[in-house]
Amino acid sequence: MRLIADVDTGIDDALALVLLAARPDVDLVGVSTTTGNTTAARAARNSAAVLALAGRPGVPVWTGSGRPLVVEPETTPQTHGDEGLGRAALPDASGALHPGDPITGLWLPQLRAHPGETTLLVTGPLTNLALALRAEPRLPRLARRVVIMGGSFNHPGNTLPTSEWNAWCDPHAAAEVYAAFEGLPAERLPLVCPLNVTETVELRPGVLDGIAGRIGVDAPHLGPDAPRPGAPSRTGSALFDLLIDALRFYFEFHADHGCGYLAQVHDLLAAEVAVGEPLGARAEALWVGVETGAGITRGTTVADVRRLLGRAPSARVLTDVDPAAAIDALVRAVVSLSTR
Ligand code: BDR
Ligand code: CA
Repeated sequence: MRLIADVDTGIDDALALVLLAARPDVDLVGVSTTTGNTTAARAARNSAAVLALAGRPGVPVWTGSGRPLVVEPETTPQTHGDEGLGRAALPDASGALHPGDPITGLWLPQLRAHPGETTLLVTGPLTNLALALRAEPRLPRLARRVVIMGGSFNHPGNTLPTSEWNAWCDPHAAAEVYAAFEGLPAERLPLVCPLNVTETVELRPGVLDGIAGRIGVDAPHLGPDAPRPGAPSRTGSALFDLLIDALRFYFEFHADHGCGYLAQVHDLLAAEVAVGEPLGARAEALWVGVETGAGITRGTTVADVRRLLGRAPSARVLTDVDPAAAIDALVRAVVSLSTR
């Protein structure tokens, strides 16, 4: 399966890349970045480092849009760490960084050369997807499938009371993207993995202990009582060390925000959906719109569940998955990459 991942790496974006890297059937033709969790440039360096440790050093990583379409760029070091991957120390993988614009250099050439074959997975703000749709309005027909992590439907937000981070970061891009798909046949609509579903998938430290056991290294010292910042992980597996040092920070972030000592792994779920992991996923085709105004509802995503607006669907919105299956897929991915 050909796939382009558009990311703002980011701890859960890193898990998404690990999942993709572990799948022998995924031809990861390129990665592009956007500004969200961290800057697009930093996200590119992070993505290249993760892919190198996950055995895919040859995947080209393109630095994408540094700015949202209209609003000012924002990043969230409090959620993902100063450089985007918690306290992980990264190898230099700058050899994988590709110069130039990912829309004209990667997305459009790939989509046009392989019509109907390339899945687009977007786990950051929708800036690059909006720009690509402006440049190539046939994109919904050229892509095999578009899968997005973003939005929150009939559920609280994680940035403002009703706004999810990716939609909040670039609300104009999100609004443009859904408008571009409105009225297309169901199989052409983007599949959206919103917060109300991704938040059901909770990664707990015991899962990392289980991985440690399976790959034959010491279990990491993680938990609410573990010292902060804690010593860097030295298990002997560079990939597992990166995940532990990133996730330790992410567990602490969630604990400090009342979620418990666990991690919500939004982008991992979107990657699993994109590659067709058997998750018992269900989705509903709905009209989706996005609030672009400034103020307390900026970036709020609205799904017209009762068809009150009488408008055609603009997305397929994920409604259910099996959270245990989602965690299981990550375990399999990390174990397989760590024992190759
Ligand atoms: C989304 O925001 C980011 O912090 C995560 O990487 C994910 O893509 C969840 O709201
Ligand atoms: Ca992300």
